[in-house]
Amino acid sequence: MLILGGTAEARELAGELVARGVRVVSSLAGRVARPRLPEGEVRVGGFGGVDGLARWLAEHDTGAVVDATHPFAERIGANAAEATRRAGVPLLRLARPGWQPEPGDVWHWVDDLGDAAARLPALGRRVFLTSGRQGLAAFAGLDALWFLIRCVDPPGPPLPRAHEILLDRGPYTVDSERSLLRDHRIEVLVTKDSGGTHTDAKLRAARELGLPVVVVRRPPRPEAETVGTVGEAVEWVLNR
Ligand SMILES: NC(=O)c1ccc[n+]([C@@H]2O[C@H](COP(=O)([O-])OP(=O)(O)OC[C@H]3O[C@@H](n4cnc5c(N)ncnc54)[C@H](OP(=O)(O)O)[C@@H]3O)[C@@H](O)[C@H]2O)c1
Repeated sequence: MLILGGTAEARELAGELVARGVRVVSSLAGRVARPRLPEGEVRVGGFGGVDGLARWLAEHDTGAVVDATHPFAERIGANAAEATRRAGVPLLRLARPGWQPEPGDVWHWVDDLGDAAARLPALGRRVFLTSGRQGLAAFAGLDALWFLIRCVDPPGPPLPRAHEILLDRGPYTVDSERSLLRDHRIEVLVTKDSGGTHTDAKLRAARELGLPVVVVRRPPRPEAETVGTVGEAVEWVLNR
């Protein structure tokens, strides 16, 4: 079993399968300096595109692949679909459902970080950016705004001129997110539609405070059999 990971669900799935005696290799991209490691075997680093992944699957006599990568990890998702098709290995996608607005939410849906940046000046001057450290160049020209940028590892340039970096990783609580928004006098929040409960406390805190949220839509993924929970993925693997 190969699990393409980098998410809490991928770690959880590896733990569940190892506990049931399944031989699991989890694959991480190697982006984060000190990743939380799953149980079972772990390999780190890219495969070398579709060809490299297809080769890896054949060389390791892989029985099945679960793509449990983050909904915004576009390239590895596309590579997994193509490489498993070529290698004749079954593929399951484990994708947590996206977030849905609730009464009281003021959400602005956008297609990408560039669109998010274009919306900001009309929504507020003090921005909480929680979209991760990739793609922050989209906000670099917004000199009239101030940004609180939260990510796991330090982001590289270009960054917006006025900013503070907060290195942290979830899960977060509504109380701590509310305090953070208040202490930094945040007026607007930017997030990807990551889904799940690990990082949704900021949305509830923003709702309570009546703050607008710019939500980046998920990019399209290739067609694949898909489940939304770790339990369903465990069933799929055990029934193979
Ligand atoms: N994008 C996000 O917002 C986000 C958020 C949280 C966690 N993550 C996790 O961080 C990782 C990288 O995300 P990304 O958006 O940079 O990915 P990406 O753009 O889809 O992938 C870029 C390249 O990184 C390598 N790669 C990505 N995930 C890999 C994995 N699990 N194992 C081995 N190689 C992997 C592949 O290299 P080769 O072509 O050489 O194989 C891939 O072509 C993913 O595993 C994802 O689950 C991403």
